[in-house]
Parts: sequence; structure tokens; C-alpha cells
Amino acid sequence: MRELAGKVAVVTGAGSGIGRALAARLAAEGMSLMLADVDPGGLAETASRLETSTGVAALTQITDVSDAVAVRHLADRAFGELGAVHVLCNNAGVFQGGQMWTRAPEDFAWLLGVNLWGTLHGIHAFVPRMIAQESEGHIVNTVSVAGLFAAPLAGGYSVSKYAAFAASQSLAQDLLMAGSRLRVTALCPGGVRTAINRSERVRPENLLVAERTEDEAFSVEMIDGLVERGIDPAEVAAAAVDAIREERFLALTHPGYADGLREQTEALLAGRLPALPVYE
Ligand SMILES: NC(=O)c1ccc[n+]([C@@H]2O[C@H](COP(=O)([O-])OP(=O)(O)OC[C@H]3O[C@@H](n4cnc5c(N)ncnc54)[C@H](O)[C@@H]3O)[C@@H](O)[C@H]2O)c1
Repeated sequence: MRELAGKVAVVTGAGSGIGRALAARLAAEGMSLMLADVDPGGLAETASRLETSTGVAALTQITDVSDAVAVRHLADRAFGELGAVHVLCNNAGVFQGGQMWTRAPEDFAWLLGVNLWGTLHGIHAFVPRMIAQESEGHIVNTVSVAGLFAAPLAGGYSVSKYAAFAASQSLAQDLLMAGSRLRVTALCPGGVRTAINRSERVRPENLLVAERTEDEAFSVEMIDGLVERGIDPAEVAAAAVDAIREERFLALTHPGYADGLREQTEALLAGRLPALPVYE
């Protein structure tokens, strides 16, 4: 989809980080926006920054993407008030780490609820109506390099992101087989300077666990370092827009990941456990 100006985009997780940068970039491309986040303060801040910098008055809706009904309401409002949706960015996500065997069911429920179900709800609520428009369109799912290389101390996150990657690939294949003009990108950033290392701020109370284990504390240090050394979110938004324009399925933000993918495939074909991924 080459022409973005005058079209409509929806971005979830728009109250911070990559979602905020996607909103800024898509607005700069001349798109009308519907922005969603579970955090009202962050969402309002994104909308106000956009209005100041580009004069674009984006629509906003507080939305918990793990809630199917909330995402359906988001879609109803986007199609109802903006008339169409051409770009859907299923971007909202959270991180939580620790060893596989110390993670509580609540940890997995939270990670899968936002990172996987959030994407699935977005697909279910938006894609049928996007197909019915019979125009060009694009779905960008913010996966992660953790959806390509499973890492220690981030098992729950990797499980959710591998699943989001699979959802993206299957969606792209289904759309192709159905003769749709919609395309899909699995956006797989490495470390990015955002607030992902502070995801606990939006963790629902019913999914809290009593205390932080030592391995979890170590994973927090790991993610803090990755974020600190990470790239600017605007670079990720630029990679997403390039992928939309070039109709590219996989968008990587760090050149080294191509070698990593080759090495991982070779290791797997040889029956070996792949080496530790290099995330930066
Ligand atoms: N920062 C990185 O290094 C990195 C790397 C790879 C992938 N990602 C992915 O990028 C995406 C954006 O994360 P970010 O790095 O910008 O982090 P961030 O914490 O800065 O932004 C994430 C946003 O998602 C929102 N959110 C969380 N739970 C939600 C829910 N249930 N419903 C709606 N919104 C919710 C948060 O309020 C926040 O505004 C995520 O999917 C994340 O997994 C991040």
C-alpha cells in the first residue's frame, strides 16, 4: 500500500513508546488516526503531542486489548466515525520475565492476554470489515525479536510473541488465499527505548502475583539494559511504514537478526539447541 495520505489508521498501545511513535509517523504521512490504550494519561499525552506537532486531532479510546468486547467497540467507533480503516497496528504489549518454572499462571495469563489475545481480538474485530472495504490495507502486528528467537528468562514473553508471529503468518496466508488486497507485517524490533521494562504499571490487579523471585529480578535487569541501549521508537515506526509501502511481511530493526535466523535454522536442522540469541 503505497499511498497513506488521506487514509485511516488504528494504533493500539498508542499511549507510550512504539505506539506513540507509530501514531506520530502515520499522522505525519497524512493519515487520520484512532488511538487506543489502557492507560488514559499516556493516551491523552500522545493525542496532545500530536495535535501540537502536526495539528492532527486524533480520536482516542481507552481500550484493554485483552478484552474482546472492548476491541469490538474500538472497531465500531473507528469504522463509524472515520468511515474506514486502512492500517491496523496491533501494537499494545507487555513484558514480564523469569524462568519458565517459576512463572505463575497469572504471569502467562497477563502476557498471553495482551500480547496474543490482543492481536487476535484486533484481527477478529477489524479484518472482516477491512476485507469488505475491498480496498488496499495493511495489518501491522508488533511482535518482537523474541517471537523469532526464544530466550532464557523471558519464556512467557517469547511464548506470547511466537504465537503472535504465527498469527501474523497464518493471517497473511489466509488473506492471500482469499484473494484479499490486505497485507500483513510482523514487526520484530529488538531493544527499543520505551517503557516496556515498566509494564507492571498497567498490570491488572486480578493478575498480580505476591512477590518477585530472584530470577525475575534478574530478568528485569536484563530488560532494563536492553531498553537503555535500544534504538529510538521512531526508527521502529519508520521500519513499519517502509514495510507497509513495500508490502514486506517481516520487518526487522537490527541487521544482525538475519544472520541469527540463519544460524538458528542450521542449529535446528542439526538437532541442536540454538545458541543464545543476540538481541542487539
Ligand atoms: N521496547 C522494546 O524493546 C520492544 C522490543 C520488541 C517488541 N516490543 C513490543 O512493542 C510493543 C509496544 O511496546 P513498547 O516497547 O512501546 O512499550 P511501552 O510500555 O512503552 O508501550 C506499550 C503500551 O501498551 C499499553 N498497554 C499495555 N497493556 C495494554 C492493554 N491490555 N490494552 C491496551 N494497551 C495496553 C501500555 O499502556 C503502553 O502505552 C509491544 O507489543 C512490545 O512487546 C518492544
